[in-house]
Amino acid sequence: MGGDGATSEERVAIVTGASRGLGRAIALAFAAKGVRPVVTARDGAALDEVAAAARSEGAPDALAVAADLSQTGEPQRVVEAALARFGRIDILVNNAGATKRGDFLALPDEDHLAGFALKYHATVRFCRSAWPHLARAGGAIVNISGIGAQTPVAEFTIGGPVNSALVNFTKAIAARGLHEGIRINCLCPGHIETDRLTDRIHALGEREGLPEAEARERLRQEYGIGRFGKPGDIAAAVLFLCSQEASYIHGATIVVDGGATPGI
Ligand SMILES: NC(=O)c1ccc[n+]([C@@H]2O[C@H](COP(=O)([O-])OP(=O)(O)OC[C@H]3O[C@@H](n4cnc5c(N)ncnc54)[C@H](OP(=O)(O)O)[C@@H]3O)[C@@H](O)[C@H]2O)c1
Repeated sequence: MGGDGATSEERVAIVTGASRGLGRAIALAFAAKGVRPVVTARDGAALDEVAAAARSEGAPDALAVAADLSQTGEPQRVVEAALARFGRIDILVNNAGATKRGDFLALPDEDHLAGFALKYHATVRFCRSAWPHLARAGGAIVNISGIGAQTPVAEFTIGGPVNSALVNFTKAIAARGLHEGIRINCLCPGHIETDRLTDRIHALGEREGLPEAEARERLRQEYGIGRFGKPGDIAAAVLFLCSQEASYIHGATIVVDGGATPGI
């Protein structure tokens, strides 16, 4: 049930960055509960595949909207497309993100600006555009940040600050959402098995001349975790945060990292 008494089948969830990785898993997890996902990212063909998978999971009305979300007007266009199709928005998961890693001195302004344009500014724009509709539905927002928000690392000078900004922004709008019936939380994934992690494993393998399995094991040990996370670990946490069972969780930053974060 939604905040306004809507059934699962009536609820609508916008999931950004849903063409692969965490966003895809989150969208399909909503679909399996009958919630209608609106999936968005740039790759239209991949989105169509996700929408088709969502339909067979149990959401016959899944909608795909291709968009470059780093562009100013695009979040609002996606919100309008969701409203045109369904007339309501219950859930917003801001997940799209692609910040470059690397040596700080080698990362130009353009990479910093692009990192913020997508992961931070698109989140702000989605929250603003969807706000009155979420308020009407008694809805929920989950902003996907990352453990780099709390644990800065030298090779993550774009992603870390973007993630910290999202934690701060989430808390700030949660103070407003409290009085307007929108529940807002932030989720920080740790090291989860998506293309981003595979890229890191390959980069380490190439740098150190290691076969993939060894590079993977080296990275796991470096991160001090028993295993890498699965996209389903994050999807399960997002679904919980959007459920009635989590109705008293508001303005929180939830870390889902298999114990990777060393501090408190
Ligand atoms: N995986 C992890 O270990 C981890 C850890 C901490 C935080 N996170 C965060 O979790 C989120 C998802 O990560 P992931 O691992 O699933 O990443 P991923 O596999 O690289 O997927 C990123 C998603 O963002 C979309 N995207 C990229 N640029 C876009 C743009 N300009 N406009 C619209 N969509 C765009 C991609 O789709 P298109 O290419 O089709 O546009 C894709 O759907 C990110 O915000 C990331 O920072 C991940």
